[in-house]
Amino acid sequence: MTGKAAYYITTPIYYVNDSPHIGHAYTSLACDVLARFMRLDGREVFFLTGTDEHGQKVEKSAAAAGRDPKEFVDEVSERFRALTKLMNYSNDDFIRTTEDRHIRACQELWRRIVANKSPKGRENIYLDTYGGWYSVRDEAFYGEAELTKGADGEKIAPSGATVEWVEEPSYFFRLEDWRERLLEYYADDGASDGGASVAPDSRRNEVESFVKGELFDLSISRTSFSWGIPVPDDDDHIMYVWLDALTNYITAAGFPNEDSEKYKTFWPANLHMVGKDILRFHTVYWPAFLMAAGLEPPKRVFAHGWWTNEGEKISKSLGNVIDPADIVEQYGLDQVRYFLLREVPFGNDGDFSHRAVLLRSNSELANDFGNLAQRVLSMIHKNCDAQMPQPGEYSQADKEFLAAAEALITSVRLEISEKQSFHEALTLIWAVVRQANGYVAEQEPWVLRKSDPARMVTVLYVAAEAIRHLAIICQPFMPDSCARMLDQLGASSDKRDFTSLGPDDALLPGTRLPEPEPIFPRFINDDAKTGE
Ligand code: MSP
Repeated sequence: MTGKAAYYITTPIYYVNDSPHIGHAYTSLACDVLARFMRLDGREVFFLTGTDEHGQKVEKSAAAAGRDPKEFVDEVSERFRALTKLMNYSNDDFIRTTEDRHIRACQELWRRIVANKSPKGRENIYLDTYGGWYSVRDEAFYGEAELTKGADGEKIAPSGATVEWVEEPSYFFRLEDWRERLLEYYADDGASDGGASVAPDSRRNEVESFVKGELFDLSISRTSFSWGIPVPDDDDHIMYVWLDALTNYITAAGFPNEDSEKYKTFWPANLHMVGKDILRFHTVYWPAFLMAAGLEPPKRVFAHGWWTNEGEKISKSLGNVIDPADIVEQYGLDQVRYFLLREVPFGNDGDFSHRAVLLRSNSELANDFGNLAQRVLSMIHKNCDAQMPQPGEYSQADKEFLAAAEALITSVRLEISEKQSFHEALTLIWAVVRQANGYVAEQEPWVLRKSDPARMVTVLYVAAEAIRHLAIICQPFMPDSCARMLDQLGASSDKRDFTSLGPDDALLPGTRLPEPEPIFPRFINDDAKTGE
């Protein structure tokens, strides 16, 4: 979809019991690329990330660190804020669930759910006693049938986390009454407005069959600890951390002030990006809570896959957690950003390996793209008096090649804005990068230098124009490197959005060009570094 419609995209808010790792960096990176893409495409964007600071897991982590919970979350939340800087995310807000604006929003959402009746005319929330299994690591309740036995006979949740028996007074949400409405919600293919409400399709099928099965009422308050948001009119209870956490998405949009410009512009959110592990919370509980409160559910939830490290599950106990700061230092930020979205079809699981980062950085960034720009710009620098040259008449080959570069945005837009197929978008872009290399190899401007200098100038200009298109389209993925490439091409800084694609804003002949410098370094495949 093009045009000026506003676009609201969110990452999950991160638990502050831990330091950021590659999985966290990945979810937000995908959002950042999408947010940047939408802005370049002329849309007003609101990109939200932040931290999830309440609940038993965080309370326990604070206690284990011997810290007061608020002091603890203040410190750990900063690590996630630092991640946004490290990864060059363009988020417009960073929400913390301990903020007053959020506490207000949660309590108001609760009140509205209480005030409304379910589709079956019953109360949405009722008080009872919860007796069942709870996993603190997942902050999730599990039914007996979902559990398996661990090595020492302990009960294990499907996520691999241990569970404990919990018995305490609790408020319940009448989830079952929302089944039909949820099924209608999943059935919406959103063809005219950003795609199906749950994606990819395999995930939509997964939640659909979950909702068609037996739906238990959901325990939505806790009484056995206190690190959370008090339930309105009953201070003995704090809200279930997922109800609290999910609400962040409307808090940041200005709720409960529904008359605010912000709320009217951005709610319902266009896209909640999540990992596959938290699909159910976002596609079952969250839309049901919203509908019960009389609010609109998000337009779309996309669940991506998980990363392993050199073939192994990433976990603290295995000691193989990948710190984004380490790989950014080792390979460079844009190389990491490119790799994470190129390596794995978005939605699938994938494996991180140093060898794979090196291969892609060397062959696709340094060789294919970097060398292309470097060769063309160096020839212009040397042979055209360090100025963008004035091309002569285009040949058929020039026209066809430029047409391919100009058409690229249409297919890339479809992959990114509508399907979140970042890997496909990069595949399409790289097909044009290769075409550009083929064009230069075929036209042999270094031969033309002697035989037909006027034709050489045209070839170099056409190649530079194609590189301009590629650099503009790659900006969401690699903002700094593409900015440098566009600087080197002498592309005007106010002509770098997608409206500048095409011939009208073509590179200006006569523009002085700086000395070209390589944008993507080649890494030596040092065995010690890769551990192979
Ligand atoms: N606090 C909740 C989200 C609340 S949203 C209202 C939470 N936080 S988390 O910090 O545990 O996870 C945040 C995101 O990181 C999730 O989308 C999760 O899927 C993602 N990842 C965590 N480990 C991951 C990998 N190994 N690989 C890819 N993403 C993973 O869940």
